[in-house]
Amino acid sequence: MINLSNDCSLEFLVASGALAFDGRGYPWERLRLWNNKLDPSVFDAIVLKTLTYKPREGNWRWYNSHQVVKWLHNKQAEVIGHVNSIGLTNPGFDAWFKNIAPRLNPKWNFIVSIASADAAELIAMGQKLNSLPLVAVEFNSSCPNSPSERSLLDNTEEVVFLARRLKQATKHPLIIKVSYQQNYLEIVDLLEDYVEAVAINSVPWNIVYPGQKSPLPKKFGQGGVSGLAAQPFTWEMVRKISRQGVVPVIGTSVWSYADLAKLKSIGARAVAFGSVFIKTLFSSNLPNEYAHKWQKEHGIF
Ligand SMILES: Cc1cc2nc3c(=O)[nH]c(=O)nc-3n(C[C@H](O)[C@H](O)[C@H](O)COP(=O)(O)O)c2cc1C
Repeated sequence: MINLSNDCSLEFLVASGALAFDGRGYPWERLRLWNNKLDPSVFDAIVLKTLTYKPREGNWRWYNSHQVVKWLHNKQAEVIGHVNSIGLTNPGFDAWFKNIAPRLNPKWNFIVSIASADAAELIAMGQKLNSLPLVAVEFNSSCPNSPSERSLLDNTEEVVFLARRLKQATKHPLIIKVSYQQNYLEIVDLLEDYVEAVAINSVPWNIVYPGQKSPLPKKFGQGGVSGLAAQPFTWEMVRKISRQGVVPVIGTSVWSYADLAKLKSIGARAVAFGSVFIKTLFSSNLPNEYAHKWQKEHGIF
């Protein structure tokens, strides 16, 4: 469990992107909400899909989900994860704040994820979020599919600078989201006094499958890998960040119930469910089941 400075605690989270911009999920997930299979109130926080200051077209369109998110299979044709190149498609912070934030379900707990390589934009978003009752703010410094923020992937100093400025602007606890190709241990070390948890992003295709062609259409780039296929990389991060012992880490890439215990044993202090939400698209309430089962069998994570 991660105890935040605002007395909220984190054990089970919904990862950014899994339940859209309001926690109600995508159209196919709404079916599950309506028949009570998916219960977002179970989670300590739903991290909303990342917002940028200005509206961002990205790669996703209502008609092309199957092109920007692809299922990955092993040789036995079992699903082992996803590769996506959505590219931070979003309505922009102000439109979200005006139209979506007022309709957030007050019974659910939210973390707002924001991305920018511009300090003034991050500060403006951070300040505005102060009027909302959030669990935390997450700074996504590591989207593998976003050209505007790509400069952050190999610029530790800039990520640290931006996160510190954002922290000065927000009253909420700050979470930093990092990815495998960043110098994440140095980032975490330099942000010890500014962030209260570390989240982990998907892993660039060329790191997981070097030399192999991504199933995404070329125009969308190679994408980021999540789920079981990403575990060797995301779990290496969990191990290293936990061993570093500076900021608690949120484990990721859960693919089965047994993964919760494995993540705990390598030092994860909480768990975020991402790709597993789309593992069995129309029927998956796996994250709900896993959280319930864990609480019944072990109590606190
Ligand atoms: C379809 C999809 C959309 C995503 N959108 C975002 C996003 O907007 N912001 C973000 O920080 N991470 C996003 N992610 C990354 C997840 O939040 C998570 O960090 C990543 O998938 C690794 O966790 P997992 O292996 O458990 O899925 C997305 C992932 C997927 C599969």
